[in-house]
Amino acid sequence: MQFELTEEHLAVQQAARDFAQTELLPGVIERDENQKFPAEQVKKLGELGFMGMMVDPKYGGSGMDTISYVLAMEEISKIDASCSVVMSVNNSLVCWGLETFGSEEQKQKYLVPLAKGEIIGAFLLSEPEAGSDATSQRTTAEDKGDHYLLNGTKNWITNGNSASVYLVMAQTDVSKGHKGINALIVEKNSPGVTVGKKEDKLGIRGSDTHSIMFQDVKVPKENRIGEDGFGFKFAMKTLTGGRIGIAAQALGIASGAYELALKYSKERKAFGTEIMNHQAIAFKLADMATEIEASRLLCLKAAWLKDQHQDYGRASSMAKLFASETAMKTTVEAVQIHGGYGYVKEYHVERLMRDAKITQIYEGTSEVQRVVISRDVLKD
Ligand code: CAA
Repeated sequence: MQFELTEEHLAVQQAARDFAQTELLPGVIERDENQKFPAEQVKKLGELGFMGMMVDPKYGGSGMDTISYVLAMEEISKIDASCSVVMSVNNSLVCWGLETFGSEEQKQKYLVPLAKGEIIGAFLLSEPEAGSDATSQRTTAEDKGDHYLLNGTKNWITNGNSASVYLVMAQTDVSKGHKGINALIVEKNSPGVTVGKKEDKLGIRGSDTHSIMFQDVKVPKENRIGEDGFGFKFAMKTLTGGRIGIAAQALGIASGAYELALKYSKERKAFGTEIMNHQAIAFKLADMATEIEASRLLCLKAAWLKDQHQDYGRASSMAKLFASETAMKTTVEAVQIHGGYGYVKEYHVERLMRDAKITQIYEGTSEVQRVVISRDVLKD
């Protein structure tokens, strides 16, 4: 066992750190306030090879491992979690799903531009009445011979408006339960696709979250991913990797808030000394540092298992559960350490606190992670 990163890993980490400081930090408060999608920044992430990090170079990707992805996600998320969620969905849900389960034609047509960051993708599973209970899909994909007819509504879709390509889960045969669900590639500009209102969110306000409506949308059969009825398993397998990305996002939000709190506690004086010299503050920093380190190790372990082609379901849920709880706890404490300054925008920690909350909700709530982990540990 060794805990050291390779030179390649360190270079990716440094590149992401530099990008976050120079390209994301300026304007992050304004984008949050105005709910402005980081279009220019996402384009530059694509040019850096960060939108298809793990995709084989023959499909336009960077051919990196999942550890590199975790390192980059942490650095980007320290500064701008609105940008990192765009990156995460494109990398782990859309690109990974297409590369692993798509046909050669689907890869050439859709994966190549997605991996190069020329276009963005979205993953459409959640519905008004199917969030955690993902088998209860109401969106229908009626089999019409050479095409499917898609009808229904999807909710809370990250990249809803900015994406050009949607991976949509829909029910073809309700009598078969989850085995009747298909995953379809749908182009956003297809007739019958409507982008609904943009959600006015607590956090990650720069990312665009929309509901998407489908009315009699014709989807060619060749746009189905995998065999008939594979859609639910496709979604579950894809989300298993996605959870590593969101765990790394939560880790970044936590470590970003911690670094700001540490710096502030060395500068700010109260009762005649820097506040770091008060045990009330020092103990908070000790807890934050410990929990962040534990989160980082869980993220890297899950990433390593994935890279080794070993089972990573339990590990990815553990990483997401622990890192997202840590993000929430750490950011609340970072605001507390900053006192009144923590409550205003220019010190960044209030934004990180608002951004942290979503990591306990999307790509499976903390409760869903506990379902996945408990089912797995009970097999031991
Ligand atoms: N890998 C492969 N197969 C899996 C799997 C996995 N990780 N998890 C479940 N399955 C399979 C099961 O083996 C089972 O197959 P069989 O019937 O052939 O045995 C089938 O899928 C059904 O599984 P369950 O019986 O376990 O299903 P369930 O109804 O009990 O639900 C759940 C399990 C874990 C709660 C699941 O519904 C779930 O993960 N829900 C959360 C969904 C989610 O994460 N949504 C996020 C939306 S996307 C998003 O947030 C993206 C974004 O914009 C940021």
